[in-house]
Amino acid sequence: MRRIPRLAWGGIALAVVAVACEPNATQSSLNPQGPTAEKIDRLFEPVFWFAVVPIFILVEGLLIWFSLKYRRRKGRPAGVPPQIHGNTRLEIAWTILPAVILAGVAVPTVATIWDLASKPTGPNVLNVDVLGHQWWWEFRYAGQKVDTANVMHIPVDTPVFVRLCAAGSGFSGPSPNECQSDLPVPSTLGGAVIHSFWVPELAGKQDVVPGRTNTLLIQADHPGTYSGQCAEYCGLSHAYMRFKVVAQTQSDFEQWVRDQQSDAAQPTSLASQGAGIFAQTCTRCHAINGLKDAQGNPVQGAIEAPNLTHLMSRQCFAGCIFRTTHENLVAWVSNAPERKPGSLMPSGLYDLGLSKQDVQAVVAYLETLK
Ligand code: CUA
Repeated sequence: MRRIPRLAWGGIALAVVAVACEPNATQSSLNPQGPTAEKIDRLFEPVFWFAVVPIFILVEGLLIWFSLKYRRRKGRPAGVPPQIHGNTRLEIAWTILPAVILAGVAVPTVATIWDLASKPTGPNVLNVDVLGHQWWWEFRYAGQKVDTANVMHIPVDTPVFVRLCAAGSGFSGPSPNECQSDLPVPSTLGGAVIHSFWVPELAGKQDVVPGRTNTLLIQADHPGTYSGQCAEYCGLSHAYMRFKVVAQTQSDFEQWVRDQQSDAAQPTSLASQGAGIFAQTCTRCHAINGLKDAQGNPVQGAIEAPNLTHLMSRQCFAGCIFRTTHENLVAWVSNAPERKPGSLMPSGLYDLGLSKQDVQAVVAYLETLK
């Protein structure tokens, strides 16, 4: 193998370090935007600086200094330096000192863990059930009849208590998890695997484990959009399992909830043709509240895949990897697996037998789902 020149190694190292300076990085836990994330950051900073200054700089400094001072030189007699093995004072000192340092880190860490794990109380706590699917996030607002995907809305300055559950099949664990309280958790599409829910600017990371219900507290100080993603390898499209958290003022949030609770509007013309195709083909997995078939009978869709009632109100879809635009919807409905590896959504053109015109009609219908 050819040796890699030193300059190249330097370049690679510099590039790795420089990536951390990306100005538009939206997923930085060093930029806390709410009390939960701030508590974690307040814990991280002193530990980090303590690790850098006294420990790293002192230890590495002494190491370099000794290496240089006692390096091999012409004229210096070779031999063994004075031995200190069995020096009781030194042994005690370097046992106690690290123990004290670790205790200094452990006490605030454990206190913060307890603090963050406590369930918030009070009338203004918002409860949201978050379900990890292969590979998208579902958000259910307990008691409010809101079921959405990929984009989570929360009011600012409000503690949001999240229950995290894994959806999917292939798991025979203990009792079904608590996220079933509102709607049953679908158990046939995709595997029930471990995911990890992470919005770095708002909270720490929490695993989503099949058969368990983990909880997490998130809260945002300011209106805005915060990026999140799955942080535990969960299969082919793990890297495409993203989401957004949209923090809104209380009144904007209440308006959003009302919009989400309403049924889908009844489509006309091309869109109405699309609604018919949707009712026949897509409802095996997707639900749209208020959907009717050609005879005007309500059609109950399955809840295996995202509920699409207000699809166009979400800025992104398919694990939040595509912006919700006409072109992206056409490409997705035409051939989803091509755009997201391992996608459980079949290809409209090749698996479901839709024509290109059918796809246009379905997308025209989807675009009425405001
Ligand atoms: Cu879900 Cu990685």
